[in-house]
Amino acid sequence: MAAAIETKQLTKSYKSRAAGNINVVDNLDLHVEEGEIFGFLGPNGAGKTTTIKMLLGIIYPTSGEGFVLGKEIGDMAVHRLISYLPERPYYYEHMTGLELLKFYGSLFGIYDEAKYRALLEKVNLHRDMTKTISQYSKGMQQRVGLAQSLLNDPKLLFLDEPTGGLDPIAHREIRDLILSFRDEGRTVFISSHELSEVELICDRVAIINKGIIERQGKLTELLHGGRIEITVGGVDEAFLKGLNIPDSNIRGLPVGVLMDMPEEQDPNGIIDAVRNRKGTVISVVPRRKRLEDLFVETVTNPALGGKPSVPPAVAEEIVK
Ligand SMILES: Nc1ncnc2c1ncn2[C@@H]1O[C@H](COP(=O)(O)OP(=O)(O)OP(=O)(O)O)[C@@H](O)[C@H]1O
Ligand SMILES: [Mg+2]
Repeated sequence: MAAAIETKQLTKSYKSRAAGNINVVDNLDLHVEEGEIFGFLGPNGAGKTTTIKMLLGIIYPTSGEGFVLGKEIGDMAVHRLISYLPERPYYYEHMTGLELLKFYGSLFGIYDEAKYRALLEKVNLHRDMTKTISQYSKGMQQRVGLAQSLLNDPKLLFLDEPTGGLDPIAHREIRDLILSFRDEGRTVFISSHELSEVELICDRVAIINKGIIERQGKLTELLHGGRIEITVGGVDEAFLKGLNIPDSNIRGLPVGVLMDMPEEQDPNGIIDAVRNRKGTVISVVPRRKRLEDLFVETVTNPALGGKPSVPPAVAEEIVK
């Protein structure tokens, strides 16, 4: 698989009167594969939007390098192949949804009414295309933003907080749309705080904290370390202890005995042993590690982050 995004020691510094130079993005090595949904996670002020803006060529890195779809960042040729839904999109409120797509389409030299309508239909706004943006709810504005971001048929989409402030139904709609982008072969780079959502749709994630990538990898690999809990009746604690399951804990409950063990352990042998002993299996519950646990563990663990937080209260750009 080719890389859709690759950065090497990408850094952005701002000058702060209080704290001197601050790397708000600090030697970032990011790797995003083509065709995946990549979650870019981090607390407020971690450097997510700054990174996206560097990748888009909106602001310049202080040092390091980055490649988007194989071209160096800032290469204008890439702009035809990518799109961006900003954190707080601002649209001309007097325009209707259809007019908005016509306007942005014209910037790309796209004059295709059927395409505008098809995109509005895709984001479920075809019944509202003659309403003005001022009449759109937040969720509708986000959906028209996604339609706009598809105008140039991008290979790579940057979505900065695409579900911020939306209700659960709007969340699900946006989530399904993002999944459909991947099905169409696009790469999606999402910055988000919605960890449960990211967990549902992202293939790989990076967690950035104070400008530094603390974790990066496949979600399935980052979230390993879960447990399986088996509750059984009709056998005692000593019987389960006698099975000698490595790294297991056993305790009595009013309904029976509960044993938890690493998720890699196959529970079938234990179930068979309990049944052979005429015991009953009450429940087998996988307790997966959640992305929220990993996130909190990563951003609050000084051994991983290390750097004290010095948010630049008043900072200026460093001119190279
Ligand atoms: N133009 C600028 N001048 C000075 N400092 C800036 C500038 N832009 C961003 N910063 C600082 O860089 C840091 C990272 O900001 P950024 O917007 O990238 O964070 P973020 O991860 O997107 O946060 P959020 O989740 O709140 O959107 C913050 O401390 C911010 O104050
Ligand atoms: Mg941001």
